[in-house]
Amino acid sequence: MCGIIGYIGHRPAVPIVLEGLEHLEYRGYDSAGLGYVFNQDLKIIRSSGKLNNLKEKVINEGSSLTVMTAIGHTRWATHGAPEERNAHPHMSNDKRLALVHNGIIENYLELKKDLLSLGYSFKSDTDTEVLVNLISECCHSEPDLLHALAKALRMAKGAFAICLMDREAPNVLYAARNQAPLIFGQGVGENFIASDVPAFLNYTRDVVFLEDGQILVAQSGDHKILRLNDLQSVSCETQRIQWSMQAAQKGGYRHFMLKEIFEQPNVITDGLTGRLENNDQINLPELERILIPKRLHIVACGTSYHAGLWGEHLLEHWAHIPVQTEIASEFRYKEELLLDPNEDVVLVISQSGETADTLAALRRAKEAKVKTIGLCNVVGSSIAREADCVLYTQAGPEISVASTKAMTSQMLMLTCMALYYARRNKSMSLGLRQSTLGQLRSLAQFLSQELPQMHTMAKALSRKYAQAKSFFYLGRGYCFPLALEGALKLKELSYIHAEGYAAGEMKHGPIALIDPTFPTFVLAPAESEMYAKIKSNMVEIQARQGQVIALTNPGTDLAADDRWEIPFLPGPLMAFLILPCLQLFSYEVSDYLGKDVDQPRNLAKSVTVE
Ligand code: G6P
Repeated sequence: MCGIIGYIGHRPAVPIVLEGLEHLEYRGYDSAGLGYVFNQDLKIIRSSGKLNNLKEKVINEGSSLTVMTAIGHTRWATHGAPEERNAHPHMSNDKRLALVHNGIIENYLELKKDLLSLGYSFKSDTDTEVLVNLISECCHSEPDLLHALAKALRMAKGAFAICLMDREAPNVLYAARNQAPLIFGQGVGENFIASDVPAFLNYTRDVVFLEDGQILVAQSGDHKILRLNDLQSVSCETQRIQWSMQAAQKGGYRHFMLKEIFEQPNVITDGLTGRLENNDQINLPELERILIPKRLHIVACGTSYHAGLWGEHLLEHWAHIPVQTEIASEFRYKEELLLDPNEDVVLVISQSGETADTLAALRRAKEAKVKTIGLCNVVGSSIAREADCVLYTQAGPEISVASTKAMTSQMLMLTCMALYYARRNKSMSLGLRQSTLGQLRSLAQFLSQELPQMHTMAKALSRKYAQAKSFFYLGRGYCFPLALEGALKLKELSYIHAEGYAAGEMKHGPIALIDPTFPTFVLAPAESEMYAKIKSNMVEIQARQGQVIALTNPGTDLAADDRWEIPFLPGPLMAFLILPCLQLFSYEVSDYLGKDVDQPRNLAKSVTVE
């Protein structure tokens, strides 16, 4: 949700900031801007729309080539429409300070009122312009800018990651965070501040993940990290990033999304490395430190929530652990959590590890003294740091805004957890455990062989169905969460209205919508106990002239408008073949319709606001 970057060093800063913004664009892309000091004046260049618009303006500007310090921002609008005047950086009225901000200042209207009464004026609708003027106002009562910044941030309520520059001292950058990610990249004779590591990974791998309530003061060859509340120095551990920028490139694929779909076999291989101990055990030492849950609460948002719903089936069925999967934005505001620290465990799932609602849910669970597990992809993210134990999904950077390989990696770790607890709870026969582990071992290769055919079929079907205005996705049991995910992928990528339903619910209302122009995607794997039931649901749709795509296995007796046959895998592991079909179908529909596949409208990858 917005990406920020700051550079201070010995190279021309503007190209570095623009390059960093390219890598942060997934966080928001409705407008962008940058700021620097030139000839003792603050220069701000901003543009609505994609980053390319900003780049053009910067080229036309031509004044920036020599500056060695700059800040930049790519925006996902929260306050105010995505127009140039609302793009960041925002300047203080006296044109001394420029600020980029990710997050929401919740009490900005109150603060704005006070500032208006003091004579300040505002050109934008943003909370950020309020904050920069508040800092400016605090300069009148505080000895220096650092103290003024700290005072203003203590007055601001809400979430922020900010980077501030000062016309009077262009050789210093200030940054601070509270409930929004901010990473300090430490180079040689140069320093970086950014919302995410790829923004500066071409220049340094040494990073400090700043904590809530910390302020960073950076110069080209020096820096200090201070506590916001008393401005005392703190020492922070520098970590070395192990993955490379190559992992965050398209690698010959047309879109990041397609690349990430095709990476799923590798994600499975990587995720299982070191996990398969011998032929009947899963190695999850991370979980040994906490109790075996009597009840597990899975909390997440978006695609991660769907992965959680899917995992619920395995954990209940194999490990006999009752599971409740909840949407983080609901869980965090429940009046009573009704959790027992001796029996309940909360598992939060988040690719980014920064989703505001999921992080808040984790904190709420911790307040209730319940043990927490974080299932995250981004190493060092807030959730990874704050959970009592963390399982990493090891999917590598996911750039496409629509999540694909991250869900597969989450499902893989949930499978491992279910098998791990099944052994400890003695709830699954040795035979079933061994055969499931055998399937897991060959899963990556199997999927890798199937993906090209899946892609061909997805392409063909997309041409036939891309003009539909609405779609249903139906599934039962473990296929129900996949139906939800299929519908989510289609709507977020192609803007076609799509809903996922538990197939049995169709006749309780949704079936009223069925007509010849309203197709349904039915998930009907052969073996599922539910096969006969889903077949009946499908026939009910066909009786109302609804068109049906049936994703099924060879040998089933479904007569659909389009049968999409994929090989059979016994049990819920079939999901690892179903999911890529759904992803590829949405991808192809979106691309065929000429939509922006990797950056769909109105979305952002990392949602760090409520
Ligand atoms: C956003 C993304 C989704 C993602 C969700 C949760 O909505 O667009 O793809 O599933 O956030 O993100 P998380 O990082 O917590 O998994």
